[in-house]
Amino acid sequence: MNTPEQLNTWHPESYDRNARFVSDLGEPVLAMLRAVAGERILDLGCGDGVLTEKVAAAGASVVGVDASEAMVRAARARGIDARVVNGHALRFEREFDAVFSNAALHWMREPDSVLAGVARALKPGGRFVGEFGGHGCVAAIIVALEAVLARRGINGAAQIPWYFPTVADYRERLISAGFAVDYIALIPRPTELPTGIEGWLDTFAENFLRPLQPADRKKALTEAIALLSPVLCDERGRWTADYIRLRFAAHLSDRGPR
Ligand SMILES: C[S@@+](CC[C@H](N)C(=O)[O-])C[C@H]1O[C@@H](n2cnc3c(N)ncnc32)[C@H](O)[C@@H]1O
Repeated sequence: MNTPEQLNTWHPESYDRNARFVSDLGEPVLAMLRAVAGERILDLGCGDGVLTEKVAAAGASVVGVDASEAMVRAARARGIDARVVNGHALRFEREFDAVFSNAALHWMREPDSVLAGVARALKPGGRFVGEFGGHGCVAAIIVALEAVLARRGINGAAQIPWYFPTVADYRERLISAGFAVDYIALIPRPTELPTGIEGWLDTFAENFLRPLQPADRKKALTEAIALLSPVLCDERGRWTADYIRLRFAAHLSDRGPR
């Protein structure tokens, strides 16, 4: 298994500049969580804690976990109880009323390990509510990056750092891990990029560029941007990424894991 930092290096400043929309657009899933005062909630892949703060604002006692030390430092600076933890190896036991996760689960490519840890972390009947990249997410961007790697004889498919499941796949895994699924859907969400495709690629596409010689990376990016321009850039130069989210709400069933 790749370590999380091998897939992507997280920089709180560039995340804030290029990708603030990620937490801003987390409001609907936050509403589905329905956190209430006094609950104990785990935010899995809390990042810099902007959304975690909103969970805490409901009066819940929140713990954030994230694999990136830099992101955890940024979350702690907001006063959040944030800890460096790999989501594949959660060690909590029957501690939380709910586990919440926004835009993080697609970075964890062994979903069954994650789900087993989430199920262990929850009290009986506890909720798991989240949103992450679903099947087809950023497909155009992936195809363009694969194409520029293919020109260089590199298998781009092997560089995809994400797990973007279908509804059927993730529903089955949730049930196998002992959850009852209350809601699950794919939601197309074209998303305007505040700093264009360059900012997005700079923040999220590190894994695709890693096999290239440093001197060739800028050229490869220019080629990918040229391929994407007719698809994702409008006549005014605004870039919109082809996001598709998988949103779900589940709770621990009495039945336990299958
Ligand atoms: C796109 S950010 C989302 C952050 C935050 N939830 C938000 O809505 O702004 C994805 C986060 O997932 C974290 N992450 C990636 N792989 C992880 C893993 N294996 N375990 C824990 N966190 C992980 C990254 O460090 C990053 O902070």
